[in-house]
Amino acid sequence: MVCLGNICRSPLAEGIMQNKINKQKLNWTVDSAGTGNWHAGELPHHRSIKVAADNGLDITNQRARQITKSDIDKFDLILVMDDNNAEDVLTLCKNDAQRNKVHLIKQFAGEQDNDVNIPDPYFDNRFEYVYNLLDATCNSVLISLLKNKN
Ligand code: 4NP
Repeated sequence: MVCLGNICRSPLAEGIMQNKINKQKLNWTVDSAGTGNWHAGELPHHRSIKVAADNGLDITNQRARQITKSDIDKFDLILVMDDNNAEDVLTLCKNDAQRNKVHLIKQFAGEQDNDVNIPDPYFDNRFEYVYNLLDATCNSVLISLLKNKN
């Protein structure tokens, strides 16, 4: 799960997806990172921590980090929050196999609305809206991955 700062959106996406993975008893690994390094080492944003806690999720184990080229080797799927993130991650890819791992999370989830981006609550404060959007999106991601699992 990748966003810009790894303090608002992608920590929520990681926490939400980890919870769904746990509930399904899947042995999948989920992690998150930012394309930028300004917040490296920090906790998630206090509003992300709060909205996660309001929904029963503790994301205070997470610390921000910047995505690396080895992440693209290591992970099968790189889900990005917006088209700027996609552009930045694609510059780290060394071949088509790597580029094909990178998807806008809403597109991967098959959501049909016009905006392909998860809006950044760092700028507009819509943390509850983003939480609910990511929860619905991660449900669709999980269903899609489970369909292709067997
Ligand atoms: P995020 O939000 O990409 O969802 O973690 C942001 C966090 C920090 C900044 C921008 C976006 N920043 O400019 O520091």
